[in-house]
This record gives sequence, C-alpha cells and structure tokens, in this order.
Amino acid sequence: MKSLSYLNKYFFKYRWRLLLGILCIIAGNYFGARIPAIIGESMNVLKGDKPISAGQTLFWVALGLAGMAILFNIIKGFFLFLTRQTLIVMSRYIEFDLKNEIFEKYQQLDYSFYKSQSTGDLMNRISEDVSQVRQYLGPGIMYSINLIALFPFSLYEMLKINTELALYALAPLPIMACLIYLVSNRMNKLSKEVQQEQSRLSTLGQETFSGIRVIKAYIQEKHAKQNFEESSKTYLKKTMRLVRTNALFMPTISLLIGTSTLLSIYIGGLLTFDKFSGVTTGNIITIILLIYNLTWPFASIGWVTSINQRAAASQERINEFLRTEPAIKNQSEAPLEEFREIRFKDMSFRYKPELPDVLSNINFTLKRGETLGIIGKTGSGKSTLLQLIVRQLDPSSGEVVYNSQKLSSVNLPAYRKQLSVVPQDVFLFSDTIYNNIAFGALDLESTTREEIVSAAKHAHVLHNIEAFPDKFETLLGERGVNLSGGQKQRVSIARALIRKPHILLLDDCLSAVDTETEEIILGNLKQLNKENQTTSVIVSHRISSLRNADYILVLENGRIVEEGKPADLLQTNSQYRELYDKQLMEEPEVFED
Ligand SMILES: Nc1ncnc2c1ncn2[C@@H]1O[C@H](COP(=O)(O)OP(=O)(O)OP(=O)(O)O)[C@@H](O)[C@H]1O
Ligand SMILES: [Mg+2]
Repeated sequence: MKSLSYLNKYFFKYRWRLLLGILCIIAGNYFGARIPAIIGESMNVLKGDKPISAGQTLFWVALGLAGMAILFNIIKGFFLFLTRQTLIVMSRYIEFDLKNEIFEKYQQLDYSFYKSQSTGDLMNRISEDVSQVRQYLGPGIMYSINLIALFPFSLYEMLKINTELALYALAPLPIMACLIYLVSNRMNKLSKEVQQEQSRLSTLGQETFSGIRVIKAYIQEKHAKQNFEESSKTYLKKTMRLVRTNALFMPTISLLIGTSTLLSIYIGGLLTFDKFSGVTTGNIITIILLIYNLTWPFASIGWVTSINQRAAASQERINEFLRTEPAIKNQSEAPLEEFREIRFKDMSFRYKPELPDVLSNINFTLKRGETLGIIGKTGSGKSTLLQLIVRQLDPSSGEVVYNSQKLSSVNLPAYRKQLSVVPQDVFLFSDTIYNNIAFGALDLESTTREEIVSAAKHAHVLHNIEAFPDKFETLLGERGVNLSGGQKQRVSIARALIRKPHILLLDDCLSAVDTETEEIILGNLKQLNKENQTTSVIVSHRISSLRNADYILVLENGRIVEEGKPADLLQTNSQYRELYDKQLMEEPEVFED
C-alpha cells in the first residue's frame, strides 16, 4: 500500500473537493440511517404499538411519517449526487494529471529506455495501470468513507432499539466482508488473465492484418486462422472461469443477508414477547432495513480491499518507471558556442556492458562546412555512429568533443536544434504531407508555405506531391495514402531541410531512390550546403551517394579501416577503390534501357 502514498500530493491538490465529498457522504448517511427508524415508527403507529397523542388522527400521523421518509430519501439522494460530483470527479482529474505526468516522463526518457521496453508495456502503464489506480481514487475511497460514515449512524440506531438484537443482526456482516474479499480476489486474478488473453488476441489480429500481404502471398491463411482459433479458445476458457466465479458474488451476499434477516426476525420475535425488552415489530423492520443499508457498504470492504491491492501493484509499476532516470541528460543551460567542429577521440561504444564493442577506437573530426561520407558493410556501425553524433547515445569509453567541450556537457536541446537527421527507418506520422514536413521546423508558427514547397522541391518530391489530388493536404498513414519507399525517404529529407540545419545527417536515406533521382537530390544538397555553410554527414552503401564528400571513412566491424579524401583513396589499392570500380561499372547498365 506504500506505493499509493505517491498519490497524496494529488489529494492535497484537490483537498477542497475531497473535504466537500466527505462532508456530503456524512450528511447523506445521516439521513439514510434515519429512514429505517421512520418506517419502523410508522409500523408501530399503524399496529397500535405506539399510542398517538391526543388531538391527532392516525391518518395525519401516518401521512406525516410517510412524508418525512420521502423527504429524507430525497435529501439522501441529493447528497449522494453531490458525493459523486466531488469524489468521482476528483478521481477523474487525478487520472488526467497522472496520465500527463507519465506521458511527460515518456518524453524525457531516451532511446535506450525504449529499446528495452515493449510498446504494449508502455501503453499499459498509461492506460491499464492508471485506470486501476483510478479505481482506488474514486470508488475505493468513496466506498471506504461511506462505510466509515454509515456504520456509526446505523449502529447508534440499532443500539437504541436493543443491544442483543443489534449484535445478532450484525454478526454475519464481517463474515460476508471476508468472503467477498476472497471472491473479489479470485475475480481480479481471473479478469487479469482474461485481459492478458484479450490483448494477446488483439495483437495477433493486428499482426495478421498488417501482414496480410505476406500471409496471402505465402498462402498461409489456414495457418493464420488456426492460430487465431487457438488463441480464441484459450480466451473463451478463461472467460468461462471468470463467469463462474462472478456467479458466486451475489449468492454469497444473499446468503449472509438472509441469515442476518432470519436472526433478526427470530431473536426480535422472541424479544417482542418479552415485555421488558421494549422491542416492537416496527423495531424488527427498522433493524432489517438498517442491515440492508449496510449490506453493500460491508460487501464493499472486501471488494475495495481487493481493488486497492490491485491499484497498489499498478502504482508500484508506475512509480518504478517514474523513478527511472534518463541515461542521456542535459547537463547545461549555458548558451551554445557556435559550431566549429565535432571530434571523436579514441571513442568506443557498446550497447550493453556484456555485449562486444559495436564501435572501437574511433578517431575523426567533422569540421564546419565539410561533407563527410561514411561507407561500410551492413552492421558495421554506421547508424550507431550517427546516433553518437546526435547524442542519442553516449560513448562507453573515449569522448566526443564539441569545439573544445565534451559533447555530454553542452546544452543538449540547443545542440539538437542545429541538427537535422534523416534516419534510416523513415517514420512519417498519420497526418498530412504538409504537417509531416513542417514537423521538422524549429518554429512551426512562422513556417510559410513557400518554405515547405521549397524544401519539397529540394528533396525532389514536389512533383510527386503535386500529382496527388489533395497535394500537400494528402493524408498519410493507415487510412491515407501509402507512399512508396523512395517517396517516404524524400518527404523525410524535406522535413530535415525545412529546419535549415547547421549539421545535416543523412542515414542511408537515398537507398530507395534510383541513381538519377539521387543525383538530382545530391546536386540540390550541394548547392544548399554551400549557401548555408551546412556541415553534412552522408551514410551510404553506395559510392554514388558519396560523390560530394570531402572526406570518407570506411567502416568495417566497428573500426575505421580506411579514411581520406576520395581522390586520394582512389589512388591507392583501397577497399573504397574496389567498391568504386565495382559499383560505378554496374551503374550505366541500369540506365541503358
Ligand atoms: N539497440 C541495440 N542493441 C544491441 N545491439 C545493437 C543495437 N542496435 C544495433 N546493434 C548492433 O550494432 C551493430 C551495428 O549496427 P548499426 O545499425 O550501427 O549498423 P549499420 O552500419 O548502420 O548497418 P546498416 O548498413 O545495415 O544500416 C550491429 O551488429 C547491430 O546488431
Ligand atoms: Mg544503419
């Protein structure tokens, strides 16, 4: 339960609402506990057990009592309404705040955190776990306070009648609370299993739909159907178990309430024969009604305990992650020095301590205005190197230096503001093409349409966009248009250009365009880079992409095996030269027809 104390700060924030809610519960229960006594009183009057004072007629007394019962019910209802308006609304506000707090934390955490978590888990924290916690904040708290407020009033009314009768009538209630707790616990356990099964089922469905092209091409429909059927069967089995346990809930309550009613009638009946006890038939009715009033609040002890336990487990998961510190943190608020160079000094990097180095002993300098080309076989560490430049990763040993300062100690947001990255796995949002490009701008508000158009033009994708009926307003994503691989890459380049970056990092982002288009884009980039004095790093498998590079690094197994100016590399018997000969000899054939 300790984990739930994290939420106290929110209770403090909404303290007036909470206080008002508590007052409403107390008031509502006061009137609620009075009603059985009024009904019992009416019975006594009607049966003649209680004489009416002189000058009153039976009709008017009975009518007065009935009116009072109705009035008290209305007042009770009104306070109940206010209770929900305050406490349940408070729980919704806290849910809102907590979700935002978690989402904000998600935004602070770095790439390595996301690599170690599954998307389903991340989504669960913000939806499933928060809604468990809300159960505690809303119903959990409301029912607990409700019982605490109702019980003394009811007990007082019962003791006023007869102590012995009160004790007998109340005896089954604690037993009921324990049984309900056991049943609720089992229900919670089972419903969790059902939920897990359901999310497995929907993941399976989702995967099948998104991979439908592969499934059909490999004629695996039957297999997919079998898979789904099996999962569906497990789901059914678990649901049936839940239903069976669920069915125990109401009978348990009825059994114990029935016992209590029987005891009240039996003991009460005996007492009415005892002249000295002063117990009347009306009193028995009062007691039975009071017990009925207490039924749900008592049952809720079991239920609330069980939801509180679940909430505590969920909050523990939330706390654990709120405590996670991002590995990459901004260390400085100082203004950023103007960019002159980035230098890698004996830098090595590994993703985890137990894994081997992905990059070892890297030394090179990226100078302002220069274009650096990085080429190497797949898996040689090119993308990792770019992530180190962006500071999405920090070196395991050695350092990355910005001008003369360690990159890890410069103002990170300011540093990233001058960068633009086109990642290898292009990501576009389910939004319009216009917004997808504008996303790259530093200042969204002041970005003009002309700038967007010009970025698209430089990325050589404008003619494609204009061919769509909705042009820049074309929706991308699941329910929108699907762009081809090469179109996606070029929209992504346009997004990088709109920022007018000082440093432009392109990770194999021309791999899906033909060499002719590549040439046009590279030409545009060359001109832009010259105009804006942009420094750029181009990663590629293809020699042709690196034609504008001033300096080349050849990576192999995480090491720089060759480096130098392209012209110099061509003079020697280098790997670069070998690739050059092989690729540029193949190239003309591609365009012959
Ligand atoms: N998050 C990660 N955790 C562990 N290992 C990783 C991770 N990301 C990449 N690697 C490993 O690091 C090595 C270098 O990967 P990287 O993506 O930098 O290669 P690359 O040169 O960009 O390859 P490609 O040309 O195919 O894009 C690979 O062996 C890869 O398996
Ligand atoms: Mg890569």
